[in-house]
Amino acid sequence: MLDISNIQPNLYIIGFMGTGKSVIGKRVASSIRFEFIDTDSVIEAEENISIREMFNFLGESHFRQMERKFIETGHPPNNCVVSCGGGLAVQPGMLDLLKQKGIVISLFASTQVILSRVLGKDKRPLLNVDNPEEKILALLKEREKFYLEAGTAVSTDNRSIPEIVDHIRRIYLRESQSWIKKKEYV
Ligand code: S3P
Repeated sequence: MLDISNIQPNLYIIGFMGTGKSVIGKRVASSIRFEFIDTDSVIEAEENISIREMFNFLGESHFRQMERKFIETGHPPNNCVVSCGGGLAVQPGMLDLLKQKGIVISLFASTQVILSRVLGKDKRPLLNVDNPEEKILALLKEREKFYLEAGTAVSTDNRSIPEIVDHIRRIYLRESQSWIKKKEYV
């Protein structure tokens, strides 16, 4: 059983849009009694504008700066599960930064599952195009190496939410012990 009376490293959940980061992250957070933070929601609240409007009026680069600011200085250093927007970890240097700050787990899903989960939803301006499937494939090609570099990858295809949550809890428990030990020696 995870000792939640101690200060524990954050858990960062990364991965492509539609891989289940927020749904799973929320459940993992409540199962280990951590605070749950969704980077998109924090940024929207801070700017008082939706992600879609932010992309339209302020530009994607503004949004990326907000993501970086959030990771660098905008969230508590311990006992949080952070669900990261799909493009956050692929920005230069971000994956290393996340790994310094805590445990990083990457969620994966097949293109078809991603497509079925994101279709008809308005919050993803990058997929608001004539052919979202083509766009998903192009973005995955660019980004897959970053998601894989996270170390631990978990598939969310054809598995129940409790099963995935339990899997992630176990990975977190194992990796947080070695993460803490490593920190003690540096
Ligand atoms: C993005 C993913 C979105 C959101 C924004 C950009 C991306 O978050 O941050 O639309 O670049 O992949 P989700 O991964 O939660 O959909």
